[in-house]
Amino acid sequence: MSDPYDQVAYVSRPFWQTHPAHLAVLGRLHGLDPAPVESARVLDVGAGEGGNLVPLALTLPGATFVGIDLAAAPVERGARTVRELGLPNVRLLQMDLLDAAEELGTFDYVIAHGLYSWTPPAVRDGLLDLLGRCLSPRGLAYVSYTALPGGRLRQVLREAMLAATPPELREDVPAFLARSRSVLALLAQGRPVMTPFDTAVAEEARRTLEREENVVFHDLLAPFFEPVSLGGFAAHAARHGLVHVADAGVVDSWNLLLRPEALEEAARLVPDDPLGRENLVDALRLRTLRQSILACAEASPVPEWAPPRIVGCHVSSSARETEPGTFELRVGGTLTLGRPEAAGFLRHLASIWPADEVVDDRWAALVAELFKYAAVGVWTVPSAAGRAGERPRGSPLARLQAGRGDPVVASLDHRSIQIVNPGVRRFLALLDGRRTREELAVEVGGTREEVDATLLHLEQLALLLPG
Ligand SMILES: C[S@@+](CC[C@H](N)C(=O)[O-])C[C@H]1O[C@@H](n2cnc3c(N)ncnc32)[C@H](O)[C@@H]1O
Repeated sequence: MSDPYDQVAYVSRPFWQTHPAHLAVLGRLHGLDPAPVESARVLDVGAGEGGNLVPLALTLPGATFVGIDLAAAPVERGARTVRELGLPNVRLLQMDLLDAAEELGTFDYVIAHGLYSWTPPAVRDGLLDLLGRCLSPRGLAYVSYTALPGGRLRQVLREAMLAATPPELREDVPAFLARSRSVLALLAQGRPVMTPFDTAVAEEARRTLEREENVVFHDLLAPFFEPVSLGGFAAHAARHGLVHVADAGVVDSWNLLLRPEALEEAARLVPDDPLGRENLVDALRLRTLRQSILACAEASPVPEWAPPRIVGCHVSSSARETEPGTFELRVGGTLTLGRPEAAGFLRHLASIWPADEVVDDRWAALVAELFKYAAVGVWTVPSAAGRAGERPRGSPLARLQAGRGDPVVASLDHRSIQIVNPGVRRFLALLDGRRTREELAVEVGGTREEVDATLLHLEQLALLLPG
């Protein structure tokens, strides 16, 4: 069978949870001393076309980046992007991770997103073996996987879709996808009288129908789909000399939906095993994704956060205050802050976004608290995004992506941004720093006010360079 990633392009994009400066903050909070990000060596395993790696190389010019991937077509596309941007600090190589040899060297940060659960056992093993061999002593690795027990629900959908199309007909990808969508639509309807289990399956099918087709193909219809519990994953990592540090998703607002008493009861039931307790919480919320950070076994991370360790880091927030003290978060959901100094601090960060503040002693505990609820981002490096000047400059990568009509562009805070309006895409592509705001207005046939408003919008999306 052909390589699925050559058959159907996977839209490769940035994930803020994988940013080395974010991983370094979590490492510090857990008592580790990760390598400086500005000069780090970073490896992305299963890098695809570099949608996650290339934006890092752009904003961290003193660091070195290597991406490897088995599929030829995405590596070829990614190498073209690197050439067009003229980036000297990133290489994309077509290679099976099982063949990754010592010549690649050691790395301070290793990212493996969307790989572990979707590969055969030998490759899963090979991935952790590679991490065990190539992680530098202060290194951190990020590995995402479909988590148990929530992944079971996805298995129900997967098995129904696979049962509907026999293996010999799956090479006709458009027909396979069309039939799979019909299966999802059928499951989403449920039964006239719904049991709670029917409701859960129907809801998951509805959510899956809303996901992009290429994601469903590579996630749920991949040749391998192996959800794993946190405990099972940590045990596998331990066999390769690696220790679990934390989840890179920080809190994710889902835990906020649990009753505080339920979390306390979980802590009471499993007092002596932090991972066992987290497994139980995963069951309470039917968690489907984990983004584990690993370190070398010698690292001894501490389980509780030590906020003073983020003094000197950079904090920023794109939260929007909708009522006094209530903030809408970019990750979804809202946060209400009762303490006036906490609300005042977040209001100040929102007012300077996309710029940041350096965390000092006074604010470290509050910043850690807000970070836990994903209300702020905390990085070990300053924000690369800023406010537009008289001759606005967009991120060179986002401009290139907008100019070629990509479905998503990479922001300077390492997120993927969908720009639906073709006029805004064309406008972004023009922002090379040579045109004044007036000249831009003439070029797009708009008013100066329209240009200022669009620039403000792009600024808020962290797509513009400062000044
Ligand atoms: C779901 S994609 C994720 C791509 C990228 N990490 C991202 O998140 O956008 C998984 C990638 O892993 C690659 N892959 C699968 N098996 C591999 C192997 N044995 N060695 C290297 N890459 C592999 C696939 O070709 C594919 O590009």
